[in-house]
Amino acid sequence: MKAEPIQTERLLLSPLRVGDAEGMVLVLAHDSLYEFIGGEAPTLDTLTERYRSQTSGSGVPDEVWLNWIVRPVGDQRPVGFVQATVYPSTADIAWLVGVQDQGRGIATESARAVSVWLAASGVQRVEAHVHPSHAASQAVASHIGLVPTSTLDSDGEEIWAADFAERRRPREEPGAI
Ligand SMILES: CC(C)(COP(=O)(O)OP(=O)(O)OC[C@H]1O[C@@H](n2cnc3c(N)ncnc32)[C@H](O)[C@@H]1OP(=O)(O)O)[C@@H](O)C(=O)NCCC(=O)NCCS
Repeated sequence: MKAEPIQTERLLLSPLRVGDAEGMVLVLAHDSLYEFIGGEAPTLDTLTERYRSQTSGSGVPDEVWLNWIVRPVGDQRPVGFVQATVYPSTADIAWLVGVQDQGRGIATESARAVSVWLAASGVQRVEAHVHPSHAASQAVASHIGLVPTSTLDSDGEEIWAADFAERRRPREEPGAI
């Protein structure tokens, strides 16, 4: 499985390239982004190295790393990313939107697009690990059709999940993936 470009109404999600570090280092610069996910703003060198590692893959056949950089259609400026770690039938997804572009539905639109793409690619279950106090991320997870499972991971984050096989079709359930 390989990431492909995904276009939505407002956004273009492009498979990660090492050169994206230059634009993304600005998106990732704000300390508030790390309140719930931990870590800190990377330097350009750190981010370039991270993207080099992410684009070279996990090295494990049953674990595929997919990363997309999110941009508004017709704009070269990155606004965030969505990533998915795909095991054969389950994918863990995560999302981030830069501070200046938050609150416009960008995380919801891009995470939904990735989730739909994963389902079309044969993934049967999507999960996201969300801090129990992170209301914005809970809202994104809920908007794209994930539900809280009450299971906490080793970092104390709750696993939200959706099984595609159990879902009704989008036309029957507005707002679902
Ligand atoms: C979580 C994050 C991706 C949301 O990005 P975004 O583009 O602003 O998200 P959206 O605009 O699609 O939706 C945000 C939802 O959260 C709600 N929200 C935003 N801030 C909130 C807050 N402080 N309290 C409650 N709800 C909040 C919004 O109202 C919206 O819900 P609505 O559509 O029902 O009104 C962004 O805050 C972020 O990148 N945070 C840092 C990284 C991170 O924590 N990622 C999560 C990893 S799983």
